[in-house]
Amino acid sequence: MTLDALPPPQEALAARYGAGPAPAPGPWNETIALMLAHRSVRAYVPGPLPEGLLETLLAAGQSAATSSNMQSWSVVAVADPAQKARLAALSQDQAYVRDCALFLCFVADTSRARRLAAREGLELPSLACLETFLTAATDCAFAAQNMALAAESLGLGCCYIGALRNRPEAVAAELGLPEGAAPVFGLCIGHEDPARITAVKPRLPQSVVLHHGRYDADDADAVAAYDATLAAHGHGTGRSSKAWAARVHDRLSNPAYLNGRERLREALGALGFPLR
Ligand SMILES: Cc1cc2nc3c(=O)[nH]c(=O)nc-3n(C[C@H](O)[C@H](O)[C@H](O)COP(=O)(O)O)c2cc1C
Repeated sequence: MTLDALPPPQEALAARYGAGPAPAPGPWNETIALMLAHRSVRAYVPGPLPEGLLETLLAAGQSAATSSNMQSWSVVAVADPAQKARLAALSQDQAYVRDCALFLCFVADTSRARRLAAREGLELPSLACLETFLTAATDCAFAAQNMALAAESLGLGCCYIGALRNRPEAVAAELGLPEGAAPVFGLCIGHEDPARITAVKPRLPQSVVLHHGRYDADDADAVAAYDATLAAHGHGTGRSSKAWAARVHDRLSNPAYLNGRERLREALGALGFPLR
C-alpha cells in the first residue's frame, strides 16, 4: 500500500480488529497508518525493483535499535532465480520465495565477533550463551521489521519466511555462512499481484493482549469471539479458514508440524551456537 492510499484511522482500526472490538481512534499519522495496513503478500508478479532499493532498505534496517550496539545480524540478499528456487525448496516449497523479486535471508551473526576475537587473540566464552543467540535473533527481527515497513511504504509487498529454519544447516551451506552465523528467517519482497490482493488480517482484541499492572488470564470469551472473527476472515483469502484456536492447537500439538524446526537446538549447535 502506498502512503497516499492509506485509509483513515477508523477504517484502519476496523480492518485490524475485524468484527471484534476496535479502540477509538487516538493519535494518528502516516507512519501509524502504514503499520496498521500491513498484510503478508504471498503472490508476486515479476518486475524490477527501484534502483538503490536494497541499500535504502538496509539503511532503514541498520537504523533499528540493536542490543548494546553489537549489531550481531547480517542479511544475505538473493535475487538470482536459481538460488531463490533452491531456497524455496529448502523452505517447504513456498512458491513466493521463488516468485518474489528479492529474498532476504536474515542471519544471527556472531561470526564478526569471533573474527575480531581471533585477530586479537581473545577468548569470548559468552558467545556460547543462549543470551547471545537471543540478542542476535532479536536484532534480526528489529532490523527486518524496519526493512519490511520501509518496503511497504514504497508500495512493495513482503512476507516473512520462518520455514528458512526448517533445514538450517543446508541453508547455511547454500548461503556460505561462517561458523557462528545461523539463518533466523527470510523476507520476500516484490510487486504484489494485483489480481490476488488479500485483506488485512484481524488481530486478537486488545483486551487479550494488553494488561494493566497485572496479567489478567481471563481471556476465554474474548478469544472465542476472535476465533469467529478470524474464521470469517479466512473465507475468500485462498488460505486456511481454520479459526485461531485450531491453528494454535495444530501448530503446537504435534512436533511434526514444525517441519524440522523441532530440532533447532541441535541445528544451532552445529552452526556454532551451543546455547548454554
Ligand atoms: C518470523 C515469521 C515467520 C513467518 N513465516 C512464514 C512462512 O514461512 N510462510 C508464510 O506464508 N508466512 C509466514 N509468516 C507470516 C505470518 O503467517 C503472518 O504474518 C501472520 O499470519 C499474520 O498475517 P499478516 O502478516 O498478513 O497480518 C511469518 C511471519 C513471521 C513474523
